Amino acid sequence: MKNRDIGGVPVSAIGLGGMPMSIEGRPDEARSIRTIHAALDAGVTLIDTADAYHIHADEVGHNESLIAKALASYGGDTSQVIVATKGGHLRPGDGSWTVDGSPEHLREAVDASLKRLGVDAIGLYQFHRPDPRVPYADSVGVLAELLDAGKIRLAGISNANPDQIREANEVLDGRLASVQNQFSPAFRGSEAELNACAALGIAFLPWSPLGGISRAGELGERFAPFEAVAKAHGVSPQRVCLAWMLAKAPVVIPIPGASRPESIVDSIAATDLVLTDDEYAALDAANVRP
Ligand SMILES: NC(=O)c1ccc[n+]([C@@H]2O[C@H](COP(=O)([O-])OP(=O)(O)OC[C@H]3O[C@@H](n4cnc5c(N)ncnc54)[C@H](OP(=O)(O)O)[C@@H]3O)[C@@H](O)[C@H]2O)c1
Repeated sequence: MKNRDIGGVPVSAIGLGGMPMSIEGRPDEARSIRTIHAALDAGVTLIDTADAYHIHADEVGHNESLIAKALASYGGDTSQVIVATKGGHLRPGDGSWTVDGSPEHLREAVDASLKRLGVDAIGLYQFHRPDPRVPYADSVGVLAELLDAGKIRLAGISNANPDQIREANEVLDGRLASVQNQFSPAFRGSEAELNACAALGIAFLPWSPLGGISRAGELGERFAPFEAVAKAHGVSPQRVCLAWMLAKAPVVIPIPGASRPESIVDSIAATDLVLTDDEYAALDAANVRP
């Protein structure tokens, strides 16, 4: 498995996104544990989660607890695994997603995540989504506090625009380690953030890199060049998509979600797929089929 780094800490170039194992449509726990173990077997050392990956109001942190359980029951070495979690997004239990970026909430949220993950320090803690009611510097300021207190090893933000990336990096005195934004063939709107991260040497973690849980399977049908390049290499369009992202910049670390071992094992192999310049250009220009 090839490595990239987040704030100087090496992680596998492809991470595992935990969301499909805890929100609507999730599999039973045994299959989720098999999926996480398969990722670890294949060399994954980055697992993305959030306290908000759950369905019902009384199971906040479902995905964090699941990942902690899978790590604890894994037979091999997990000392190099970074669990990247997030706070500031909430699911009240009616299917909606709300935000609370207040310092009070974030301080409580990180303590609860530490407990669920069973660690003294969280590998990467990300402020999940800006809260329009709270000045951005106040929310991100909590990450600085947490770094100084040793409760988190690395600080990141998510769903941020280029101004917020620069502001966060200033508030953190240059210690902003990662930005997690939506980015996929179907959603290219974060190219400016990706480029800002490449210029600043900050890791960029594309979320829903395959187009999201419900549409990931249709990637090849929707984008002809991804299907054509996949056929030429005898691999899946999803693997081609992840290889295309990795080729964009050395700071890019996609975190494809999975709820089946086969999905994450297939995705990880993208680190070994080399695209020609012509293939890269064709993928970069791909538009959804009319
Ligand atoms: N920061 C944010 O606001 C935010 C928002 C959304 C997501 N995220 C994070 O980003 C991660 C990824 O996004 P996502 O899960 O929404 O969408 P995604 O990665 O675009 O798609 C996930 C789906 O892709 C399928 N898949 C994965 N690898 C595959 C392969 N090689 N071939 C065929 N199908 C494959 C999986 O199917 P199976 O389920 O059948 O395995 C999975 O359900 C999430 O898990 C979460 O950690 C963050």
